[in-house]
Amino acid sequence: MARPMRLNTGRLLLSPYTPEDYPALRALHTDPSVTAYISWPPDTPEQTRALLDRRCAQGEPPVQGGTAMTLAVRLPSGLLIGEAQLRRRTPEPATGTIGYVIAPECAGLGYATEVAGALLRFGFESLHLERITGECDPANSASRRVLEKLGMRRVDHVRGHEQDVVYAIEAGRYETSNPTRRWSAGPTST
Ligand SMILES: CC(C)(COP(=O)(O)OP(=O)(O)OC[C@H]1O[C@@H](n2cnc3c(N)ncnc32)[C@H](O)[C@@H]1OP(=O)(O)O)[C@@H](O)C(=O)NCCC(=O)NCCS
Repeated sequence: MARPMRLNTGRLLLSPYTPEDYPALRALHTDPSVTAYISWPPDTPEQTRALLDRRCAQGEPPVQGGTAMTLAVRLPSGLLIGEAQLRRRTPEPATGTIGYVIAPECAGLGYATEVAGALLRFGFESLHLERITGECDPANSASRRVLEKLGMRRVDHVRGHEQDVVYAIEAGRYETSNPTRRWSAGPTST
């Protein structure tokens, strides 16, 4: 069996979920400052458990052959403090979209920028995507700032995200500016 995907971002580790993540995941998904901006918060403890079971069963990163990869964002201690997702949007041209959540008690430390930077790097350098977008609620100023700090530019709305503001970066511009270099150490086998 191939080794599960891990991305070392420098200060954080993105890695598969484990059953022990339940308390941290439940806390994350019931915090009003988080649920205000994510479309998939589980309402009940049972729904959180079912979500975690699905994520634990995800196994290998399906984004390589499928459509999405969701990883736990961890401190070096292993504690889950957020979530990171890279989802394929279209196969031809190869495009993707990123998503991230950081627990409120860890906000303002640059973690979301570090996580999103690692996702961009993985998407462009390992999956060879041609364009990556990030979508967020127009009122979500912190998330918009994260996307801007990564060198992403505001673009037109995309289908399915008509209510959101959309930012994008193309592979060519990423390679020229590589805005994520300082945040992402790339895949690791640890
Ligand atoms: C949005 C979120 C990901 C930010 O995480 P974070 O780790 O605090 O982000 P970073 O520290 O990397 O960067 C945040 C930036 O936003 C800025 N910011 C924070 N609150 C802000 C606000 N109300 N208005 C404008 N900018 C704001 C910070 O100052 C920082 O920019 P700076 O480095 O130029 O000072 C996190 O708060 C979160 O998960 N929120 C709930 C879920 C969510 O919104 N997910 C994204 C869905 S698209």
